[in-house]
Amino acid sequence: MPLADMPELLAAHRAVGAFNFITLEVAEAIVAGAEAASSGVILQLSQNAIAFHGGLAPAAAAALHLAEGARVPVVVHLDHATEEALVDEALAVGIRSVMFDAAHLDDAENLERTAAVATRVHAAGGWIEAELGEIGGKGAHSPGVRTDVAEAARFVDATGVDALAVAVGSEHAMRERSARLDEHLIAELAAALPVPLVLHGSSGVADAGIDGAVRAGMRKINIGTHLNTVLTAAVRGELERDPDAIDPRRWLAPGRTAVAGEVHRLLDVITGRGA
Ligand code: G3H
Ligand code: ZN
Repeated sequence: MPLADMPELLAAHRAVGAFNFITLEVAEAIVAGAEAASSGVILQLSQNAIAFHGGLAPAAAAALHLAEGARVPVVVHLDHATEEALVDEALAVGIRSVMFDAAHLDDAENLERTAAVATRVHAAGGWIEAELGEIGGKGAHSPGVRTDVAEAARFVDATGVDALAVAVGSEHAMRERSARLDEHLIAELAAALPVPLVLHGSSGVADAGIDGAVRAGMRKINIGTHLNTVLTAAVRGELERDPDAIDPRRWLAPGRTAVAGEVHRLLDVITGRGA
């Protein structure tokens, strides 16, 4: 199947799962899980993961090849890019969906730089997600932080972005799925903004919370840490079972299978098929 584009993928699902990968096996598992769920999916590569590999090109090439060979629509997305040059590089290698994250800057600079990047991304035929800055002096996904509806509407209008990451009660990198989301705020934001809403830090949200967020209007559900937990638990279990194993395939295969199963399960929750 050819590489999918974000507007079509979003239009075809009530919400879409966006899963972060660091290793090739996890990227393979995300695609396998989506195929098993008969659902489209977003394969996300963050600036952090790119830094781990020392460059964008090898991981991007692998993701693009996997997407093109998948039996379901797959969008390859650059996640949490804080540098304009990385956005340009992603567009140049064929990634057509990016998040430009200038939320660490003050609001005026975030708006100015995001608007400029949005113009470049659109000129290249791409799709851009952004995040509104540090509300109340804290990171947008810190505990207690919430997006202001009017401020978000002004930001989207002024920058021309295609989607907005909003702060509604989730936090990045939670190991427990205990976050409580503000569904009333999600519904208000969905009604006020002309673009899809993105939930970051969804690893900290239980299945019922994800379903509630989607029902309230959330459209892109970003999950990273939870897949790391699933992968590492499976690998640890395998190494404990077989301490003499040295061929990485012995422990990577069960890890990949476990991640694929969890992606399938989560996609059923996100798309509503599991209900
Ligand atoms: O952009 C990626 C996500 O927000 C992932 O967050 O690792 O807490 O699930 P998470
Ligand atoms: Zn995030």
